[in-house]
Amino acid sequence: MSALGRCGRFVLLERIGLGGMGEIFSAEEDGTGRRVAIKRLLPQCAKDPVFIGMFLDEARLAERLRHPNVCEVYEHGLEGRHYYLVMEHIDGVSLRELLDARRGRGLPFPLAARILAEAASGLDYAHRFAGEDGAPLGVVHRDVSPANIMIARDGRVKLVDFGLAKARTQIMKTQPGLVKGKFGYLAPEQLGGKIDWRTDLFALGLCAFEAVSGRQLFDQATAAETVQAIQRFRGPPPVAGIPEGMSRLLARVLSVQPAERHPSAAAFRADLAQVVIDEGIGAVSAAELAALVAAPPAPIVAAVDDDPVTPPTAPMWPLALAAAIALMLGGALALWLVFA
Ligand SMILES: Nc1ncnc2c1ncn2[C@@H]1O[C@H](COP(=O)(O)OP(=O)(O)OP(=O)(O)O)[C@@H](O)[C@H]1O
Ligand SMILES: [Mg+2]
Repeated sequence: MSALGRCGRFVLLERIGLGGMGEIFSAEEDGTGRRVAIKRLLPQCAKDPVFIGMFLDEARLAERLRHPNVCEVYEHGLEGRHYYLVMEHIDGVSLRELLDARRGRGLPFPLAARILAEAASGLDYAHRFAGEDGAPLGVVHRDVSPANIMIARDGRVKLVDFGLAKARTQIMKTQPGLVKGKFGYLAPEQLGGKIDWRTDLFALGLCAFEAVSGRQLFDQATAAETVQAIQRFRGPPPVAGIPEGMSRLLARVLSVQPAERHPSAAAFRADLAQVVIDEGIGAVSAAELAALVAAPPAPIVAAVDDDPVTPPTAPMWPLALAAAIALMLGGALALWLVFA
C-alpha cells in the first residue's frame, strides 16, 4: 500500500508538484500499471456546492478535448474529501521551470517560438471545440501561464489544466486566501470579469513576452500592485535583441482591446511562423526541444553554480541548458546567446 494513499483505482506514487488548488502526484493504475498524473484538489474545495458543480462540468468538458498539444484528462472522481482529476503524465518540465533556469535571460528566440507555436495550436483547437450540433462550446482556458505549458522529454509541448480555472475563480470568491491566485497573467478585461478566447490569447502573449525577455510583464511585489499594473497597461515595453517582427507580434497580441489582438490563436501561430521565416533562422524541431529538456547533467555545471543555497543534489539540468542549446543550434545560435 502506498504511503501517499490512493485516488479511486490509482495508487499515488510520488508528489510531483504543488499548485494553487492542490497537489499533483504521479500515480499508477491498478491492474494495468498505466502511469498517470493526478491533480488532487484541496479538501476545503469539496465543501462549496457551486465549486463542485463548476468542477464537474469543466472536468467533463476537459475529458472530451483530444489534441497533441493539450494534456489529456482521462477521468475525475472523489476520494474521501478530495476531488481529483486523472491526467496524462507528462515526463518533462514546465515553461516556468525552463525560464527560472535561465535566470532572467529568456529563451533563445527559435526555441521560444516553437514552444509558443505549439501551445497556440492546443489553444486554437480548444477555442474551436464544438458540441455534437457543431456549435462551438466557447471553451476558454482562463489560466494560460508558463506553469501550465509543459515540454515533455520527447519534445512535445502540452497545455495543462484545461477545465479548472472557472471553479478556481469561484473558490477565490467564496474562500479568499484558500487558493493561491495568479494575478500576473490576467488580461485587462479579465479584471472586469469579461472573458472569452481572446483573454487566453493575451495570456499567451504574456508567456511570449516572458519567454523572449526573461521578464514577467506584470510581476509586482503584491497582488494589489500587480492588478494596478494591469489596469495601467497600454502596451509592452521594447525587448532588446529580438526580431522586429516579434516586437510587432507582441504589441498586437498584447493589445488592451481584445478586438485588436490576433483574430485567433491559429493566426498568432501563423504570425510567429512568419517571423521565424523572415529571420531565416529555421524552425526548431521536436528533437531539439527534447534536447533542451533532457540536457544531461554535466559535472562542470556544479562548479559554475553561483547559488550557495542550492544543495549539491539539486537537479543540474537547468544549468546544463545553455551548453545544450549552443550544441544543438550551432554557431549562429551560440552567437545569439552571447550577444543577447
Ligand atoms: N500532467 C502533468 N504531468 C506531469 N507534471 C505535471 C502535470 N501537471 C502539472 N505538473 C507539474 O506540477 C506542477 C504544479 O502544477 P499545478 O497545476 O498544481 O500548479 P500551477 O500550474 O503552478 O498552478 P495552477 O494551480 O494555477 O495551475 C506544474 O508546474 C508541473 O511542473
Ligand atoms: Mg497548473
